[in-house]
Amino acid sequence: MKYKANNYFIDGIKTSFLAKKFSTPLYCYSYKKIKENVVNFKNDFNTINPLICFAVKANSNKKLLIELRKLGLGADVVSMGELMKALKSGIKPNKIVFSGVGKTNVEIDYAIKNKILLINAESKSEILEIEKIAKTRNKKVDIGIRLNPNTDAKTLSQISTGKKENKFGVSEKIFLELVKYVNKSKNLNLKCVSVHIGSQILEIKPYQKMLKILDKIIKKTKYKFEYIDLGGGMGINYGKNKKKLNLKKYAENIKSFMKKHNSRIIFEPGRSIIGNTGFLISKITYIKENEKKNFIILDAAMNDLIRPALYNAKHQIIPVTKNKKKSKKTHEFVGPICESTDKFLSVKKFQKLKEKDLVIICDVGAYGMSLSSNYNLRPKPSEILIKNSQIKIISKRQSLKELM
Ligand code: LLP
Repeated sequence: MKYKANNYFIDGIKTSFLAKKFSTPLYCYSYKKIKENVVNFKNDFNTINPLICFAVKANSNKKLLIELRKLGLGADVVSMGELMKALKSGIKPNKIVFSGVGKTNVEIDYAIKNKILLINAESKSEILEIEKIAKTRNKKVDIGIRLNPNTDAKTLSQISTGKKENKFGVSEKIFLELVKYVNKSKNLNLKCVSVHIGSQILEIKPYQKMLKILDKIIKKTKYKFEYIDLGGGMGINYGKNKKKLNLKKYAENIKSFMKKHNSRIIFEPGRSIIGNTGFLISKITYIKENEKKNFIILDAAMNDLIRPALYNAKHQIIPVTKNKKKSKKTHEFVGPICESTDKFLSVKKFQKLKEKDLVIICDVGAYGMSLSSNYNLRPKPSEILIKNSQIKIISKRQSLKELM
């Protein structure tokens, strides 16, 4: 990914060529980067030998799931749709874990039938439901219980999940009761304790605190868990922020934790695997000059990428063709949707732009396409993957006909 003679190239392919060939807005992924992320993640945690279950919610494109499966990853799913997609991508059931606070009986039944590794239950009611279904099917089902460790992940409140006011997991008190209950059940096999405290975490402290709490609570149960699922949440660098989560240090902390608890570790990373591998290529439809700023009206909108509108997330925007002329006015990159929050970024001293120029919204591989919608009845964009200099369409642009 770099500029050559002022033109931006993604894995050796000129971005302007991609835009012309596949039209915009266009999601483009780099296989090279995906592989690099997986290899780095594995290296960072190689002393632990974890089972890495990719959080499908971050990106559920089937072709990408197939690539991740080939790189050795399993899946963390949160719905029947995601579970079906993971299975259809060839991910082995014994590498799939199922999280979520509201699994329906149909979803639980489907998971049991497909013999997935674990259903990570999040409440007493859910455990009773799993037990009931297991009983009618005359089965003993492997489950985990998600603990809410009441830990502040020091991330955005909207993507924080491990505090007691969040709906996820169960409190220590209920956890201890449920361990006892499941232990006696003829149809349930308690194999795992799971936690996930939030997303886009860049500080190690919340993880360390989480491990401490887990340690204390597991000791209280006197139960030997075959698996400890530590969830995902590892943050990435969205351009300007230079903070980096020290995964090696986290690995060391887990290693010493494992001296006391000899269980297999499961991770459920989403963003850290796929986030920085995706680019959203967009064309400027109009430039609307205002006294104070220029509205750069793109053909991409909040239906294609909702993170800025939903979380005030900042995704860096770069020009496809660089020039040296700086604009005096602030550029406000917006989409065409009829909402004031349909705004990507305001940038001072961006280069001069003109209508029909192309730009790239960066680091959109995670929670980009998977959170897209048809709002304003806009078709979803195409997704392409660049792998070994070959370009593959991995999902076709929706047609208006499909939407009618
Ligand atoms: N495991 C569980 C149980 C989760 O709920 C999540 C994310 C993950 C794993 C993966 O977390 P990651 O490694 O990707 O941080 N839409 C938001 C993020 C929501 C995350 C929801 N849960 C965003 O665009 O920032």
